[in-house]
Amino acid sequence: MDYRKLGRTGLKVSALCLGTMTFRWTSSEEDSLRVLDRFWEAGGNFIDTADIYSRWAEGNPGGVAEEIIGRWLKGKPRDQIVIATKVRGRMWDGPNGEGLSRQHIMAAVEHSLRRLQTDYIDLYQAHWPDWDTPQEETLRAFDDLVHQGKVRYLGASNFKAWYLCKALWLSDKYNLARYECIQPHFHLLNRREVEPELAQLCLEEGIAVIPYSPLAGGFLTGKYTRESGVPAGSRGGGAARWMTDQGFAVIEALREMGAARGKSIAQMALAWQFSLPFITAPIVGANTVAQLEESLGAVGERLSEEEMARLDELTGVSRDYKAR
Ligand SMILES: NC(=O)c1ccc[n+]([C@@H]2O[C@H](COP(=O)([O-])OP(=O)(O)OC[C@H]3O[C@@H](n4cnc5c(N)ncnc54)[C@H](OP(=O)(O)O)[C@@H]3O)[C@@H](O)[C@H]2O)c1
Repeated sequence: MDYRKLGRTGLKVSALCLGTMTFRWTSSEEDSLRVLDRFWEAGGNFIDTADIYSRWAEGNPGGVAEEIIGRWLKGKPRDQIVIATKVRGRMWDGPNGEGLSRQHIMAAVEHSLRRLQTDYIDLYQAHWPDWDTPQEETLRAFDDLVHQGKVRYLGASNFKAWYLCKALWLSDKYNLARYECIQPHFHLLNRREVEPELAQLCLEEGIAVIPYSPLAGGFLTGKYTRESGVPAGSRGGGAARWMTDQGFAVIEALREMGAARGKSIAQMALAWQFSLPFITAPIVGANTVAQLEESLGAVGERLSEEEMARLDELTGVSRDYKAR
């Protein structure tokens, strides 16, 4: 396993982060625990979750992924594991059952700590913006949690560059803990959400970037084909939207490049992320140990400049930012 600094902080995280959205959604609790065990055994120390995972699944009240992680953490060296969770989504009824107000955050953090069976969260993330709450209120509540020792570092997810930039400015102006990490939806077929604006901001300000859905929810494994469509038993939905001419052209290129070095399509999609200067650790999802194993096989792999340029051409995006 490779390790990287989380942005400008001193915290070291594994180059792959394990996502847990699938826990008791598309994978059983037993498989989820096996995936956690294998990740840990392979040197993975960075686990991403959220309080809402996975409320959209039938019979899932939310909080389930945090509970599974909490059970798994028992008997593990807590101080060697970096747990990232999120707040923002609706967790209970009523006007304050969601959001990034001081009221919601202060209640939600206690629930997350209880479910995770821990007394601190390593990285506490705003899941997506709350347009009803001023950012200053959110940042002051988060800053208090850092001072109370309940949270170690702050992160944000699904923030546009201007919104993250404003948050950094507020933290600076009022001497509050700042977001050290951003979690965007980013992969070869969704580059513009990050490149170039957010990428340049993160390079300039030393913000860690931990992209979610780096395999486009499974599409970038090559198992969705024109002929057979969505594979049986797969998540479909979100992943199937990438079944376009461009999507299939990227798959073909990854297949060719991978064949030359004995790597799979999924491994090449992850290697592309490892080759970008602003990426800290992509967050992969895995329903089974076999799926995780394939992602682990990408660690340390880098693409050549020629391969990167070919993918730029196919995706219509150039790497228009500078690592200073
Ligand atoms: N901040 C946010 O708003 C947000 C949103 C989404 C996700 N996330 C985070 O990011 C994590 C990862 O998201 P994601 O699950 O969409 O990531 P992903 O890595 O793009 O997709 C993972 C899915 O791809 C398929 N897959 C993975 N490896 C495979 C392999 N070797 N062979 C065949 N299929 C394979 C599996 O789905 P099937 O078996 O069903 O095909 C798996 O569940 C989540 O768990 C969560 O922690 C955050």
